[in-house]
Amino acid sequence: MTAMDALWMPFTANRQFKANPRMLVSADGMHYTDADGRQVLDGCAGLWCVNAGHNRRPIVEAIQRQAAILDYAPPFQMGHPVEFEAAEALAAMAPKGLSKVFFCNSGSEAADTALKIALAYHRARGDAARIKLIGRERGYHGVNFGGVAVGGMAGNRKHFPASLPCVDHLRHPLDIARNAFSRGEPEFGVELADELEQRIVTLHDPSTIAAVIVEPMQGSTGVILPPKGYLKRLREICDRHGILLIFDEVITGFGRLGADWAANRFDVLPDILTCAKGLTNGCVPMGAVLVKPAIHDAFMAAAPAHAIEFPHGYTYSGHPLAAAAALATLKLYEDEQLFARAASQQDVFMDTALSLQSASGVKDVRTLGLVAGIELTPWADKPAGARGYAVFQACWERGVMVRFTGDTIAVSPPLIIEPAQIAQLFAVVAEAVEANR
Ligand SMILES: Cc1ncc(COP(=O)(O)O)c(C=O)c1O
Repeated sequence: MTAMDALWMPFTANRQFKANPRMLVSADGMHYTDADGRQVLDGCAGLWCVNAGHNRRPIVEAIQRQAAILDYAPPFQMGHPVEFEAAEALAAMAPKGLSKVFFCNSGSEAADTALKIALAYHRARGDAARIKLIGRERGYHGVNFGGVAVGGMAGNRKHFPASLPCVDHLRHPLDIARNAFSRGEPEFGVELADELEQRIVTLHDPSTIAAVIVEPMQGSTGVILPPKGYLKRLREICDRHGILLIFDEVITGFGRLGADWAANRFDVLPDILTCAKGLTNGCVPMGAVLVKPAIHDAFMAAAPAHAIEFPHGYTYSGHPLAAAAALATLKLYEDEQLFARAASQQDVFMDTALSLQSASGVKDVRTLGLVAGIELTPWADKPAGARGYAVFQACWERGVMVRFTGDTIAVSPPLIIEPAQIAQLFAVVAEAVEANR
């Protein structure tokens, strides 16, 4: 048995886990192998990141090759070819108009980098009064101070009350009473975007607001879908008031919603877009912030030619192994047309997800592309989240890995999933729900 004392695990009930560990020892395609040699169907692409499936040879070999050629290069005042190639490849596949790429190492770093770019951009243009950042209730933008401040998951925030100042939040658009069992964008709730103009812009004055940051689909909080027209409305309001719109596409990027990007699926172009996870298929940590050229150019115009234009970056920005993994991953997405494949599977996926509507105590199913959230009625006599955990554990015991947040089960498999595996995945979730009424 592996010794378990030293490791303090992240976002994990450590004592509960160590009493009954779920250990993954290898992976291939759609499956993990656990410590007992069982095959476990991956129902959540690792952690929303392994979009091309596990242990893909082209990515593994690219990382191995790169490690033997250039292990590390400092990213400040030095460069290496692979990071430039990776940036070109990412810009070429990004929503049109987002052509400048800043690399970091995670979704959290991408969120904080994006917020800093927004603040420094306004300052570079001589509009330094724009210092306020607007997030959304139940939003998740990672765990760094900026991301937690604009994020809206109460359980993540309450432990760190010393947050950033000058932050406000929009309401989240989850409305089960009007939109239960949504297949694709919910019908009702576009007017919630008006809150940005009617309450927040009015209260703060637009001249003080730098940016609005939202996940096009709120993933970590339990799959909250954008109502029809909602994101377009946010875009229009931001445009009217000179506010930057940031899309956090850490989950929604790289095919997850049945399109390459949520920006393209919803036909709304943000000024800044963050991504991570699927950028390297989860193989090597990497995040990126994509911006419109006008934002990048404002930094160039504001600083003397010899000066560092944006004093920000990480020791591992554009790391050679991550850059090689990103290049190989983006090529694999293209070679196998995986985003089109996700789009072709989404109808079966969403229909199968919605078949859980009739399972005991299912309060809502929300599904879009290859994502589904199944919200359960909490157990009356146990703490909130107890039922979600029990269903998650029951799925694991039946050979399927899903996620849970509170009493919502989240499903987001690799994009290579086959129809028979979609059926297996939801059949196991249904069985686990029934076993934990
Ligand atoms: C929308 C979003 N932003 C940011 C993050 C944070 O990413 P990371 O865990 O790589 O820091 C996540 C992680 O799930 C996410 O879903």
